[in-house]
Amino acid sequence: MRRRHAAALLGAGVLALGLVLVARAQPYDYPTARPSTAWANTDAALQHHVAYTDGSVARAALLRLNPARFGPSFAFGFFCINHRGGGGGGGAPCAGFLLGVAVVYCNSGAGITVVTNGVPQVVWSANRASPVGEGATAELTADGDLVLKSPRGAVVWSAGTAGRGVAGMSINSDGNLVMVDGSNRTVWQSFDHPTDTLVVGQSLRQGARLTANTSFDNWSGSRIYLTVAADGLAAYVTAKPPQRYYVLGYNKNAAAYAMYNNGSLTVLDRPGGQPLTTVQLPAVGAGTVQYMRLEYDGHLRLYEWRSNGMKWEAVADVLHPYPDDCAYPTVCGAYGVCTDMQCSCPDAANFRAIDFRRPNRGCVPTAPPPTCRSPPPPRRARAPRLLSLRDMAYFNSRDTSMRTLERVNEEACKKACLGDCACMAAQFVYGFDPNDGYCYLQSEVLSLETMRPEIFHYNSTMHIKIAQGKSPRRLF
Ligand SMILES: *[C@@H]1O[C@H](CO)[C@@H](O)[C@H](O)[C@H]1NC(C)=O
Ligand SMILES: *[C@@H]1O[C@H](CO)[C@@H](O)[C@H](O)[C@H]1NC(C)=O
Ligand SMILES: *[C@@H]1O[C@H](CO)[C@@H](O)[C@H](O)[C@H]1NC(C)=O
Ligand SMILES: *[C@@H]1O[C@H](CO)[C@@H](O)[C@H](O)[C@H]1NC(C)=O
Ligand SMILES: *[C@@H]1O[C@H](CO)[C@@H](O)[C@H](O)[C@H]1NC(C)=O
Repeated sequence: MRRRHAAALLGAGVLALGLVLVARAQPYDYPTARPSTAWANTDAALQHHVAYTDGSVARAALLRLNPARFGPSFAFGFFCINHRGGGGGGGAPCAGFLLGVAVVYCNSGAGITVVTNGVPQVVWSANRASPVGEGATAELTADGDLVLKSPRGAVVWSAGTAGRGVAGMSINSDGNLVMVDGSNRTVWQSFDHPTDTLVVGQSLRQGARLTANTSFDNWSGSRIYLTVAADGLAAYVTAKPPQRYYVLGYNKNAAAYAMYNNGSLTVLDRPGGQPLTTVQLPAVGAGTVQYMRLEYDGHLRLYEWRSNGMKWEAVADVLHPYPDDCAYPTVCGAYGVCTDMQCSCPDAANFRAIDFRRPNRGCVPTAPPPTCRSPPPPRRARAPRLLSLRDMAYFNSRDTSMRTLERVNEEACKKACLGDCACMAAQFVYGFDPNDGYCYLQSEVLSLETMRPEIFHYNSTMHIKIAQGKSPRRLF
């Protein structure tokens, strides 16, 4: 077993010890492995395990100490965070672990420490949709695959690198988990398989996605994703078709890809080429770690470990949907109306809040409209109708609406929606002449936004499809 320094020194103490150890240049980290090596997800097998005060657990299999020789460092191993029942002492033990790469705070002896504020920040994981339990195993197999198995031995995930000459695996100082062959060529790297996070030095190739997780305690990918297209860096909600809530456009380029560097997120026309567009970001402080994560509210947030304060801080919100944060697709839930960042339902007669104490959870029509999948209408079926909401806008762009009609009036717009079983809402927009407007049909209604007259110099009405009449009430 590796000798480990249990020194729980913080702040200046760590700095002093760090300097002493730099002088001795003693490596305490263990960043590499060779085939075949197996790691069981137990405290006994992974001696370097740490329980955090919020109930999170880190069990490190590989660890790369920060080049400064202490501070936020990348570890590969099993991580359990945000599990229900956390909160120090009395909580239920972790049942769901991710096999992945996380930032953990280390002292100069490569001991994971700062158990209150330094909770592991998972930046990549193999099994986000299927967390594994106590006793699961990860193995870098003799034939060079990295395989995750459940405690019962079922394969949960594998890198698919068997037979490709993998000679070793390492966690690098930039957070990339890399498998290389005998000539040190990269066979597989976690940077090519992003989850919801990018770290500095990582790129997002064209077509690749960051997919937000589902909720506080569910890592599964949700419907929100960010992707690099030939003509823009864009964020969407999955729907039929996907609805776009953010785009940073550029001249069409089939090789365009995004790169996260110290101080910027840049879209380049080819590797090593010219920038097509750049988003300036706060520079990464020396000796610290920064990452950006697409979150379940649709924001792409930049986080940095602050040694001054010894905690993670959100340092930037990278996307800026037009015109403001009310244009995030789930800000007020489905059918919720966002007005100056406050949520409400479109109207009390036809909608009710899903949870009236939490208006941002959204609303449901009291009489839901028929859909294309609805069974054939019974006798005296309630035909759909449209509820018209004046001065209401919708985030989805015209390019990504289900259908767009040009040079139409409001009646034609409403008729188009009523006549299409896939249409759940129509947005009618015009400048001066109501007979010369645009009509955008939507297949699904996410959050709506109250118009701000000082920003929108056009008229917009949302026509929302609901069923005819009042909802049937059971009378006993
Ligand atoms: C393998 O390549 C990496 C960078 O690509 C380099 O840092 C490392 O030193 C190389 N290892 C060997 C054994 O050549
Ligand atoms: C997690 O979210 C996914 C989809 O977003 C859902 O299918 C799954 O049931 C959720 N899991 C739990 C445990 O709630
Ligand atoms: C990032 O860039 C800034 C200056 O632009 C520099 O001071 C800082 O040390 C850099 N950070 C890292 C981690 O290299
Ligand atoms: C899911 O992402 C949110 C931010 O979007 C984060 O606060 C939360 O910790 C994540 N949950 C898990 C289980 O990782
Ligand atoms: C349409 O917009 C114009 C100015 O942009 C405004 O004067 C007019 O009242 C609006 N009409 C409606 C129906 O909202």
